[in-house]
Amino acid sequence: MIFVDACFGKETPYTPVWMMRQAGRYLPEYMEVRKKAGNFLNLCHSPKLASEVTLQPVDIVGVDAAIIFSDILVVPNEMGMELDFVKGEGPVFEKPIREKKDLDKLIGGKEAADKLDYVYETIKLTREKLDKDKALIGFTGAPWTLATYMIEGQGTKTYSVVKKMLYSNPQFLHEVLKKVSEVVKHYLANQIRAGVDVVQIFDSWAAALEKDAYFEFSWRYIKDIVSYIKKEFPNTPIIVFPKGIGAYLDDIDGDFDVFGVDWGTPMELAKEKLGAKYVLQGNMEPCRLYSKVATKEAVEKISSIMQNKRHIFNLGHGILPDVPVENAKYFISLAKEVTKR
Ligand code: CP3
Repeated sequence: MIFVDACFGKETPYTPVWMMRQAGRYLPEYMEVRKKAGNFLNLCHSPKLASEVTLQPVDIVGVDAAIIFSDILVVPNEMGMELDFVKGEGPVFEKPIREKKDLDKLIGGKEAADKLDYVYETIKLTREKLDKDKALIGFTGAPWTLATYMIEGQGTKTYSVVKKMLYSNPQFLHEVLKKVSEVVKHYLANQIRAGVDVVQIFDSWAAALEKDAYFEFSWRYIKDIVSYIKKEFPNTPIIVFPKGIGAYLDDIDGDFDVFGVDWGTPMELAKEKLGAKYVLQGNMEPCRLYSKVATKEAVEKISSIMQNKRHIFNLGHGILPDVPVENAKYFISLAKEVTKR
């Protein structure tokens, strides 16, 4: 499986490619299935339909790996927090965590992870249908990113609620992060047992923290999850994606295999700091997909920096809903062609 080989830094016939948020609103076929499901959460809860949309980008745009169709927020949802996706606003938790009794009410550990059975069922169904040479990627949010949503109650520009807690009651924030981490460990282990070939940890809100705070409140929990998974499943590659911490790369370490480079971090810098130790993934600016010329420019540049070694092609964050499908296909075929040279 070339994707898995590439994750471990092995020679592959070309640099494999996939896209973050690859199943989504830019595909008319996705919109059809979502209409059938009623809403986004129903779709996540229906293994047959979730499996169908997981496979769509492999068939339609030709990526080398399928990422399981779900969302990072199903974890707090199954811990007991009511979740709604509000049109135009994104995800909303009606009753965010503000004090100890809110946290104590939530289900933890294996019990919460076992409630995500619809994700494991989606994985089983998808792995049965997916070509043997294509990889299936499972994922989770990092504890810091999940806790931010759980404490703020929704997306935020200022992070003021979670940061107020960080500065005024750091012990309590650590309690939240510990509880989420325990669920995440079991969640990833269950996904691997159900059949994913690779797992990715998304830390989308990493850039909200100053350097020391990042290592104290986020990275140490990611490292802990990574060591646990590596010990239990040494043959499953682990990808980490902390978005927006290009200035902290000197202190990044841990037992993962692939570092996802966001679009704001120069690829040359990531290669210099981390390229010897880790396989790098990314880092094309997602809006380049609006233009074939801009896409080609980035693919050529990334390929010339990475020399088609120890690299996985991907966007430097998620694909946007109004990207023309034709341009997404162009990106995938170009990445494969360029890296075969
Ligand atoms: O990539 C894939 O195809 C797999 C599925 C996937 C989704 N969300 C589906 C989704 C993955 C890997 C995610 C991860 C996710 N979800 C992250 C981490 C990655 C990142 O982008 O930083 C975060 C922060 C979330 C939280 C989340 N979920 C938000 C902020 C939103 C609203 C986004 C928007 O543009 O409105 C979602 C909803 C969501 N998750 C959609 C999809 C396809 C859109 C739902 C829809 O309207 O159909």
